[in-house]
Amino acid sequence: MKNSNAVVKLPLCAGCFVLFCYFLLWTCWICVIKRDIRQTFRSASSKMRRAVTSGGDILQHTLGDVFTLCPHNTPFVGPYSYTPLSRSPCWQDGDQFRCVPNFYIAGFSKRGVSDLYRRLSQHQDVISGIKAPHWFDFWRNIAGYDTIETYSKSFQNASAMVTHDIVDLGHSNKLIGDVTPCTVWSSLYWRCYQGNTGQVMEPVYTNADVIHRLNPQAKIIFIMGDPVDRLYSQYHRWFSSGSHTVPMEPSREKFHQLVTRAVAAYRRCFCQRSLRSCAYNGTLLADVMLGLQEGMYSVFLHDWLTVFPRNQLFFIKLEDYAVDIATGLQTTVEFLGLADPGILWYAETSGQPMTIGGNSSLGPMLPETRVVLREFYNSVNLHLPNLLGDARFRW
Ligand SMILES: *[C@@H]1O[C@H](CO)[C@@H](O)[C@H](O)[C@H]1NC(C)=O
Ligand SMILES: *[C@@H]1O[C@H](CO)[C@@H](O)[C@H](O)[C@H]1NC(C)=O
Ligand SMILES: *[C@@H]1O[C@H](CO)[C@@H](O)[C@H](O)[C@H]1NC(C)=O
Repeated sequence: MKNSNAVVKLPLCAGCFVLFCYFLLWTCWICVIKRDIRQTFRSASSKMRRAVTSGGDILQHTLGDVFTLCPHNTPFVGPYSYTPLSRSPCWQDGDQFRCVPNFYIAGFSKRGVSDLYRRLSQHQDVISGIKAPHWFDFWRNIAGYDTIETYSKSFQNASAMVTHDIVDLGHSNKLIGDVTPCTVWSSLYWRCYQGNTGQVMEPVYTNADVIHRLNPQAKIIFIMGDPVDRLYSQYHRWFSSGSHTVPMEPSREKFHQLVTRAVAAYRRCFCQRSLRSCAYNGTLLADVMLGLQEGMYSVFLHDWLTVFPRNQLFFIKLEDYAVDIATGLQTTVEFLGLADPGILWYAETSGQPMTIGGNSSLGPMLPETRVVLREFYNSVNLHLPNLLGDARFRW
């Protein structure tokens, strides 16, 4: 699997992934500096390098990584002997009491994810304030960070609250959530996952399997909006956050160019390989500089549906949520098995202003771009309503 050519051929910047995903907590991008682009856009590159250096050794290390090269093999973790006294999976590990999440808001992108979590965490039994740990999609793949110690550290405060409950009440109903919207699709380092060794085309195991191994009872929430709008809003955020490494002036025309290039690249890939192989190909994603594959909902969700029982997965349509937050919240509360917080709570919580997406000075995308994207996603997600058993999931 080791291929030293790949390092030269693909100066892909995984550290930048951390930049966006972790430190800036913007959203999840794989961003890239291709060799030619790096030469053209020196300034972006040095801006990146500064940021990366400030992140320390880990980032330096990941700068050299490529998706086709495994720095090491990343093992499954868990399950552990979880205590029956807590609803969230917690266990005594030597002198440490550790907890991991009961639920995951695992996708897609940032659309609606933070909004839902912000409201949900106003429920007395949901622990609030947990930042996207990006462990399954990123940190786990870095030597020294692949242990449960690292992951459970993100929930240290939460486990203190659980301990408190157990001491005071004899048990804890508190739910811990991992809100990392890239988890659903970003198994890009799959070649390094335990069990995938020797696989060339596509993964046997993805993040779904890793989470299932850790906690077979985990509940997973996905929020999906129109993939066409999702992509355009992602494009905006690249630039409005000022963090994109390729400093092009955003415009509807440039978006159109990127889209047609990306769609052509994926179509070429589909001719040669399976949809799934293309969807999990980090190199291809890096090449097209656009998160086109993220909207291939069917491909990713199929994997989660294969691993988890259907009743542990919950799908929210963003457009429905946006017009009726109370219902979205209520069904989520029920899905998670939380105590009924009462009608006043729903009224108060759903009445708060919405924080979905950003505004743009670009105006709507060009009609021809929409046509290209609509056609692409319609064909890729053709079976999504069937897959989810829910006719609403078409756009
Ligand atoms: C735990 O709580 C402390 C104090 O509120 C805070 O400073 C710290 O960032 C929290 N740690 C995590 C991992 O959330
Ligand atoms: C992934 O995409 C790259 C770039 O298009 C291609 O060279 C490579 O063969 C692909 N790998 C797989 C496993 O499909
Ligand atoms: C976006 O900005 C425009 C002009 O700046 C404004 O008219 C419009 O109401 C805004 N839309 C949203 C959803 O905030």
